Amino acid sequence: MGKCPACGAWNAMVEETVVTKSNNSASAGGRARSLLDIENPRPVALKDIDVTAQSRIRIGNEEVERILGGGLVEGSMILIGGEPGIGKSTLSLQIPLHCPELRTLYVSGEESPRQIKLRAERLSNGNLHDNCLILCETLLENILQQAKQVQPQLIVIDSIQTIYSEAVESSPGSVSQVRECAAMLLRYAKASNTPVLLIGHITKDGTLAGPKVLEHIVDVVLQFEGDTRHAYRILRSIKNRFGSTAELAIFEMRNNGLREVSNPSEMLIPSHSENLSGIAISAMIDGTRPFLIEMQALVSTAAYGTPQRSATGFDTRRMNMLLAVLEKRAGFKLSAKDVFLNVAGGLRVNDPACDLAVVCAILSSNFDLTISSKAAFAAEVGLSGEIRPVSQVEQRIAEAERLGFETIYISSFNQIQAGSRFKRIRVVEVADIPELCRLLFR
Ligand code: TYD
Ligand code: MG
Repeated sequence: MGKCPACGAWNAMVEETVVTKSNNSASAGGRARSLLDIENPRPVALKDIDVTAQSRIRIGNEEVERILGGGLVEGSMILIGGEPGIGKSTLSLQIPLHCPELRTLYVSGEESPRQIKLRAERLSNGNLHDNCLILCETLLENILQQAKQVQPQLIVIDSIQTIYSEAVESSPGSVSQVRECAAMLLRYAKASNTPVLLIGHITKDGTLAGPKVLEHIVDVVLQFEGDTRHAYRILRSIKNRFGSTAELAIFEMRNNGLREVSNPSEMLIPSHSENLSGIAISAMIDGTRPFLIEMQALVSTAAYGTPQRSATGFDTRRMNMLLAVLEKRAGFKLSAKDVFLNVAGGLRVNDPACDLAVVCAILSSNFDLTISSKAAFAAEVGLSGEIRPVSQVEQRIAEAERLGFETIYISSFNQIQAGSRFKRIRVVEVADIPELCRLLFR
């Protein structure tokens, strides 16, 4: 059916087989179930449950461990989602390659063993160990059978959309296959205490594996984001039953795999000469980590009637709002100008504290006056042109100080916690945009 009779949306209907093959499927499903060796569970008193065995497994990749909340949890199921070419296969192959003591079964339904070997050699510079087993198989029952024989300490499935089970009649990648296979793998994970890492494709509208089927089943959902044309990738935790979801890690894609960027600020502020206008540095926080990032703006006289406004990595509507504030509250004639905004490094920012740096970059380009490259900004800009306080300002100031910035501009309404003292950085408090202009562009 093209159109949904209930809500009127087009192409929203998904075919799903509910009835399984009557005679065959019982045996196939039974086969899968017998492979799992699950006994009927009995109720246990909460205080009698043994948790000492629930130790975290180290995987030799500090950034991923941090996102997971300190390592892999036994019997947990983790889903990594992301657009094609973002580096999901690279990351999940890199983990076992850099961790020789972990016996891993890497199941691929997408690449041949030869392809995987070529990639693995590049990722490990030719130092392959023999604890990483590759299985190119898409039938779930066979995968479980092999897993039972090999007894791996980690299973990687690349990708869940290519795996199918005999027990379900629909084609691989359909909602019922994906859900059934994931549920079967989850039962294996819990029964054998083996962590399972699933790779999931993202559909065009950005959801993981169709209508959120997997996100409910798994324990941890990690999302790989970034612009595939840029080198930087962000791994973000969007669900975690064993840790915080406010974590993120930055990776850089190199010709020998993903490199952990443990100090993002140093990478995101390219070194350039002092005298460039239209650049301002923002002290932002994403997740729980502060880092400094460069905002670039270009303001020029519009050649045609309607001026162009475009922003890369920043919300265009928010930029238009800031332009309207500058026009109305501070009297800058920007309505006849083209305005382009770019966030360095191909990242997307949505921290309101970036407002002030955006405003400064726009004004700097408009006046063609430079801002010192040793100045950072952290404040929100309100609709009446006031400069508003932001959260965790001490952390932002500390990060800017650590990186050798000399001045940071914050809101004069921001209360700095008593006891935090900054010796090497000058903290300048500003109340509104006219005051900011007096300080910056005298
Ligand atoms: P891949 O992990 O195959 O992406 P996914 O599984 O998410 O679809 O990554 C593919 C991209 O990564 C590809 O465009 C090339 C790039 N790449 C490198 O730049 N260096 C490398 O060492 C590897 C393995 C991949
Ligand atoms: Mg892949």
